[in-house]
Amino acid sequence: MSLDLLQLIQRHQGEQLALLSQYINPQMAKVLKMIGFDPVYVRGQGAHLWDNQGNDYLDMLSGFGVFAVGRSHPKVKDAIRQYLDLDSPNLVKMGTQLLAGLLARKLIDEFSPPGLDTVFFCNSGAEAVDGALKFAHAFTQRGKFLYCEHGFHGLTLATLAINGLKEFRGDYEAILDGATQVPFGNLARLEAELARGDVAALVVEPVIGHGVFTPPDDFLPRARELCTRYGTLLIADEVQTGLGRTGKLFACEHWNVVPDIMTLSKSLSGGYCPIGAILYPRKVYERVFSSLDRCMVHSTTFGLNDLAAVCGLATLEVIREEGLVENSARMGTYLLERLKSLAEKYELIREVRGRGLMVAIEFGQPRSVTLKAGWKMIHGVNQDLFCQSILMPLIMDHHILAQVAVHGKDIIKLIPPLVLDRNDADRFIEAFDRVLAAAHRFPGPIWDLGSHFVKAALR
Ligand SMILES: Cc1ncc(COP(=O)(O)O)c(C=O)c1O
Repeated sequence: MSLDLLQLIQRHQGEQLALLSQYINPQMAKVLKMIGFDPVYVRGQGAHLWDNQGNDYLDMLSGFGVFAVGRSHPKVKDAIRQYLDLDSPNLVKMGTQLLAGLLARKLIDEFSPPGLDTVFFCNSGAEAVDGALKFAHAFTQRGKFLYCEHGFHGLTLATLAINGLKEFRGDYEAILDGATQVPFGNLARLEAELARGDVAALVVEPVIGHGVFTPPDDFLPRARELCTRYGTLLIADEVQTGLGRTGKLFACEHWNVVPDIMTLSKSLSGGYCPIGAILYPRKVYERVFSSLDRCMVHSTTFGLNDLAAVCGLATLEVIREEGLVENSARMGTYLLERLKSLAEKYELIREVRGRGLMVAIEFGQPRSVTLKAGWKMIHGVNQDLFCQSILMPLIMDHHILAQVAVHGKDIIKLIPPLVLDRNDADRFIEAFDRVLAAAHRFPGPIWDLGSHFVKAALR
């Protein structure tokens, strides 16, 4: 008897939060409920989600960046359907895989920067970065890694060691070793570390995701030169920025930098299937997989799986056919322009910044006495409450989903699907305008929300 998926979903629709709470992550369930991020979504398409009441939500979060081509893209869906009917010889393991080979060729021949001619496929962003660290060690025979402040590369133990965010590292600090943090953009510190001659790799997000921090224009080009001079590999973590997010195919292109190793993940499979990829040069491959008996010295069971490859092949075609890199640049510029005019109107906005459709709105302490009092009250209890008080009316009243960019800073981040159109952007701006207008009234609903949080936090 087949699994009646539709019936299963219909029978249990609405139980999402209870299931999360009982079997997966009770704390997460509490938080989602508390901040109103618990609608029962029943459908997703393009840059939109719909809940069980028929409300249309604008998704400015895109599953942390995986839905670059939009949710439920027809071309990706169609490719998956075709694949399922083939009864393809997937994951033979001691054998070969056509589809993964074709995806590797497409990535290298049509997308990769020059010199990166080999691919290792895995299942996530962290796994890609983790593998890149191993490869850099094998190539350089050095044991030390450099990473940037605020940098995020995943939450496995190795990627935690190069994580520039205290909130993730805190509990594990005693067992994280062999990596040193440099301030993002600080070339003097970088050179001082590299000059010791013991650094295997500098791992860097060209635009840092947690906060949307862009380096000074000379940072990456000079970092490239310094890495070459001191025999260190430059690993560009493009897990989030890759494949169009910042308005270029790869964010490194903003500075004409070619890394030694590049990691990809999130948007590569259209959001349907876990995938990660390390793009690297043959000279590095030869040091890792250095003999016949080392041909599987780095490997993962699901790495070459057909479904991820099918999704990847279709997704890469969509990115090209629909001009999504160009749309990301165009819509990003439009969003930033409109946000900048809001920044002139609202004293709570300190800065808006970003590249392509990776945009940050940073808030800062207002000048007006009354607003300042509200600001201080909320921040006295928790650094994240202010942004949450903005995001709550955004989702509850305007049905727009977005996120706090980083713990402890007043930054909201937008990483919508790259198919975002002008209507979507206008809808966001109009809603954001209304929420900000309310936030500039003290007392007012936003600050009431804040004090509601304050009370909950104190409890
Ligand atoms: C730049 C970057 N690298 C690595 C990762 C980790 O990816 P994953 O969550 O798939 O392990 C992320 C996730 O957000 C990321 O943004």
